[in-house]
Amino acid sequence: MKDQILKYLPWVALASLVIIQFFRIDKVQPPIDSSVDFLENTSVSEVEASLIKNACYDCHSHEVKYPWYANVAPVSFWVKGHVDNGVKKFNFSEFGSYTQKKANHKLEECVEVLEDKRMPLKSFTWLHPEARLSGEARQSLIDFFNSKIK
Ligand code: HEC
Repeated sequence: MKDQILKYLPWVALASLVIIQFFRIDKVQPPIDSSVDFLENTSVSEVEASLIKNACYDCHSHEVKYPWYANVAPVSFWVKGHVDNGVKKFNFSEFGSYTQKKANHKLEECVEVLEDKRMPLKSFTWLHPEARLSGEARQSLIDFFNSKIK
């Protein structure tokens, strides 16, 4: 009996992998409204803008660039989970629609997560070398977000 199960196990695993490919993640994003986008409406140097685009926009905006492996389940579920949770907490694409109080609070959180090295997520920088922040780049973003708190 045990041998029988062991014999079929790889096939069951393979079949499961094939079947979950039919569960596609929803990659449709709301249209970009540049009148409320953070980078479009903030005075920011090109260097900092590209740091933020590369390191943060893939989970905190409507401009997520999904990598090829986001098409392969179950990795796709994991990527989608990060994007959904990230954008729910903080959305650069809707920043302009936040109240001043909320905007300030989110900027303070940005400073905190950068100081604590919680963001960008490690699993993300592992696969996205362009999103890795040097100590200097991290500090420049901390100063930048601090300077935008009103
Ligand atoms: C790979 C996806 C991903 C990237 C890239 C990313 N974040 Fe996040 N972010 C998340 C997720 C998921 C959460 C919610 C869960 C958590 O707090 O860990 C979050 C939460 C946050 C929060 C809310 C923190 C809190 O205490 O609630 C802020 C602010 C934030 N991120 C800022 C940033 C900034 C700034 C960057 C770029 C330097 C960045 N994130 C890059 C996924 C990401």
